[in-house]
Amino acid sequence: AKVHVFDHPLIQHKLTHIRDINTGTKEFRELVDEVATLMAYEITRDLPLQEVEVETPVQTAKSNVLAGKKIGIVPILRAGIGMVEGILNLIPAAKVGHIGLFRDPETLQPHEYFVKLPSDVSEREFIVVDPMLATGGTAVEAVNSLKKRGATNIKFMCLIAAPEGVKVFTDAHPDVDVFIAAMDEKLNDHGYIVPGLGDAGDRLFG
Ligand code: PRP
Repeated sequence: AKVHVFDHPLIQHKLTHIRDINTGTKEFRELVDEVATLMAYEITRDLPLQEVEVETPVQTAKSNVLAGKKIGIVPILRAGIGMVEGILNLIPAAKVGHIGLFRDPETLQPHEYFVKLPSDVSEREFIVVDPMLATGGTAVEAVNSLKKRGATNIKFMCLIAAPEGVKVFTDAHPDVDVFIAAMDEKLNDHGYIVPGLGDAGDRLFG
């Protein structure tokens, strides 16, 4: 699997404010949205095009439009929800599926409690989104869940990740490319990303 870490100055700038403990809920949501849009711009770089003719005021010209590849965005509940609008800004025709997983606070094991996907799963290219990849357990389970239902073309996108979690994820799903805004240092004993941004779900939704 390829692991892409974004180094774009706008993404790094916004991420600094996302990390900041003094950033309140409203601003936190707006920033997560904006970073998701910027990441979506990069992640859609390889979308297929088809040539069309367009009538400009000057003459007929050959030009390109998207070939209409079917995209599915799958936020991992809850925190992944915070990234959906930002991606839909750029890919408004995408369908949105939902996978609900929470980490048992004691064992850190993920538990699935909700799955609802678009009906044509096998025809879509999916972007699974969650602000955080910590131990990797949640992301691994979410992608297992998608694959079990017929998805074959999947990308994973997160704001911050711990190197330990990235390894767990890419070992489990070598066919899934990972897109990360920033790679952090490590996990602490509670399975939190250090330095991280705290609990993304809580900071978005309370
Ligand atoms: C957080 C985060 C990820 C998961 C990452 O969710 O949003 O989904 O933990 O942890 P992992 O890589 O160690 O599995 P949480 O369980 O706090 O649920 P929430 O989004 O509903 O708050």
